[in-house]
Amino acid sequence: MLKVKELLPVFPEETIQKRISELGEQIARDYQGEEVICVCVLKGAVFFFTDIVRAIGRHLDGITIDFLRASSYGSGTSSSCVVNISKDVDTDIKGKNVLFIEDVIDSGLTMSKVMGMFKERGAKSVKLCACVDKKERREVDIHIDYSAFTVDKGFIVGYGLDLAEKYRELPGIYEAVVEEV
Ligand code: IMP
Ligand code: MG
Repeated sequence: MLKVKELLPVFPEETIQKRISELGEQIARDYQGEEVICVCVLKGAVFFFTDIVRAIGRHLDGITIDFLRASSYGSGTSSSCVVNISKDVDTDIKGKNVLFIEDVIDSGLTMSKVMGMFKERGAKSVKLCACVDKKERREVDIHIDYSAFTVDKGFIVGYGLDLAEKYRELPGIYEAVVEEV
C-alpha cells in the first residue's frame, strides 16, 4: 500500500495569493469591454476558482460563474481517451466568452477534449486558466492561456488538489512524497 511519507512545501499560501492578484489583473485587461463566463472544473479547481474570479472581478465587470465536472478514462492516450461530463454547465454558452478554471494540466487530455466540445457548441471564445502547468507528462498540444505556476514533475496536493480525496483543504501547495508500506 502507498502511504504519504512527507509533504514538501512547493508554493506557500502567500506566494499563491500574490500570484493570483497579478494574474487576475492580467486576465481582466485581456477581457476589457467583454463579458466572460468563468467555469470551475470541479472539484480540484474550487479554491483557485474562488480566488482568481474575485481577483479578475476587481478589475472587470460582467463576470458570471458556472461549474462543470469532467473525468477522463481509457488507456491514457489521446486517441482512446474518453471524457465523461458528469455535471455540465447550466448556461447556454453560444456566442459567449468561456474561461475554464482548472487545477492542474497534466497530460492535457481532459481539458483539450472539454474545450473542443465547447468550441463545437458555438462559444465565441474558449480560454484556459490553470493553477499549475505540470509539463512532464503532456500528451497533447494544449494551449494554456494563463497559468499561475509551472512545475516539471511530481505529485502535488493542497489548495484543492487531492491524493485519494485528501489534502484539498491545505492553503498551500505541497509535493507528496509517498512510500510503499
Ligand atoms: P490531465 O492529465 O491533464 O487530463 O489531468 C487530469 C486531472 O488529473 C487534473 O485535473 C487533476 O485533477 C489530476 N491531476 C494531475 N496531476 C495531479 C497532481 O499532481 N496532483 C493532483 N491531481 C492531479
Ligand atoms: Mg481536475
